[in-house]
Parts: sequence; structure tokens; C-alpha cells
Amino acid sequence: IKHLRSAGDLDAATATLILDTAAEMAALSGREVKKLPALRGRTVVNLFYEDSTRTRISFEAAAKRLSADVINFSAKGSSVSKGESLKDTALTLQAMGADAVVIRHSASGAPHRLSNWVDGSVVNAGDGTHEHPTQALLDAYTMRSRLGRLDGLRVAVVGDVLHSRVARSNVLLLSTLGAEVTLVGPPTLIPRDVVAALSKTTKVSYDLDSVLPDSDVVMMLRVQTERMQDSFFPSAREYSRRYGLDVTRMRKLPEHAIVMHPGPMNRGMEIAPEVADSPRSTIVEQVANGVSVRMAVLYLLLGGK
Ligand code: CP
Repeated sequence: IKHLRSAGDLDAATATLILDTAAEMAALSGREVKKLPALRGRTVVNLFYEDSTRTRISFEAAAKRLSADVINFSAKGSSVSKGESLKDTALTLQAMGADAVVIRHSASGAPHRLSNWVDGSVVNAGDGTHEHPTQALLDAYTMRSRLGRLDGLRVAVVGDVLHSRVARSNVLLLSTLGAEVTLVGPPTLIPRDVVAALSKTTKVSYDLDSVLPDSDVVMMLRVQTERMQDSFFPSAREYSRRYGLDVTRMRKLPEHAIVMHPGPMNRGMEIAPEVADSPRSTIVEQVANGVSVRMAVLYLLLGGK
């Protein structure tokens, strides 16, 4: 594939190749090989129109570990504030010879539009409420490395599905790789039509307590209050009582089950601090795995040597 704009771009063989390549990248890093020459002479542009901590830093680290030249662009402080369009920004990057553009944008579909204007590869680093495919890949990588498989794994994705690009990409990727996904949350935050369009096999539940004993993985989503109107169900306290993962609830999980969160977290809302910091939590591991997965994505898209 040339671009990674959606987790739906990946068939099972390609997704597995990315995960296997990421494992090789991680093994090399573990052997103290800090830098590989694979992308020497190639240019990767990080084009961030929306704030980010994890994704931005890990794409930069990934490109640098592969010896690429990295240009970091953030909308803040650029000519975007003077009204320059995405297309004109793209043409500027094209003129500078970008081999890959990693884009985060508040508009769903921005990576697709960008790929019409640049010759290089486009990687979606999160577009609006649409998708975040490299997050889904690093989540799948983390599940596979902790639990040994993806096929048949029972994954509960919990909370604000409506606004979550992470949930959408996970549903697509995990379904492709044979996991059984159950979306859990209040009816107002689970768009059934969207879920049905994404996957025929994904289940929906409004009762977290009944789903936990049959889950191998519970993935808590950030409640995106900034994207909500005044309809927030029905209050933060009530949300937390029904759908927050606290220690008592975590005990309902099977002993081997893991707890995930893509970050940033609302500690005390969707996840209790004791749960986020517990041995079952893979939250910090997910961030570390993100670098290996993004190395693999850049390496494979750019045909690294
Ligand atoms: N998980 C994630 O996308 O985090 P950032 O917004 O910090 O990149």
C-alpha cells in the first residue's frame, strides 16, 4: 500500500506484516541498536493541525531511528493562522520533497484530501472523529505481545464511541484480524448505524458489569467532553458510576485480562488512578510499542532498505 489513511486499507496479511515488522524493530531497539540506516536521505513531515503528545513524539522518534530527515510542522505559528489552506500547505510540502506526510487534523477526511495533492505517502495520525489507524495497530501489537494472539480474542471497547477515532480504527482492524469486539457505553454514545457500517460482527452492550467477566481486553476510551454539547450523559458522576473502571469493577475481569487506554486519560472519570497504574494496565507499554509500530509503518510505506 502507498498510504495509511484508514485501518480499512489493511487486509489481514498486510496488518500482520506491519505487526511482525514492528516486533523486529522492537527487538533491534532491545539489542541497543538505536539507529537504523533504512530511511537515510528520505524526508518525513509531521503535519499537526491538532494537539498531540504521544502520536507526534512517537512518529518523530520513529522517523529519526530510521535515519530519515524530519520536519515538524504545527499549525500554530505557521501561515495557517493567516488563512492558508490545507491544499496550499500541501503544495509547499510537495515542493520541499516530502517522501511521507504524517497528518493530524480536526476535519474527518483530511488525509484522503491531502493524498490527492502530494506525491509522497500519507499517514493518518488522527482525523476528527473518523480514524486513527496507527493507534489501532499499536493496540493490536500490545494485545498480541501480552496475550499471544488476536484471533478469537474478546475485546471490550468502553465509553465515548461516538466521538472516538480510536474506537473506529480498532473495530476495523480487530475485526480484520479475527478478534471479537464488543462496544460498551450509554446508548447516546454508541452510534449503531456507524457500528453496523464498520463491521457486521461487532456487538453492542449497555451493561459494562455483564461484559467484563467474558473479556480478555478492556479498552477504556477518553470521554471527549470538548466534542459534546450539553447532552453529556446525564452527568460526569453518573457516567463514572455506570461506565468508569474502578478497582472493584476491575476484579470482575478474568485473571489474565489486560486494561488499555489510548491516552490522554481523564483519571477518575473513565478510569480510576489505581486501575491506570495497576500491573494489568498496558498504558505505558502502548506508548513504547507506538514507536516500533510507527517505525514499521514508515519503513514499509517508504520501501526502506
Ligand atoms: N493516543 C493519542 O493519539 O494521543 P495523543 O493525542 O497525545 O497523540
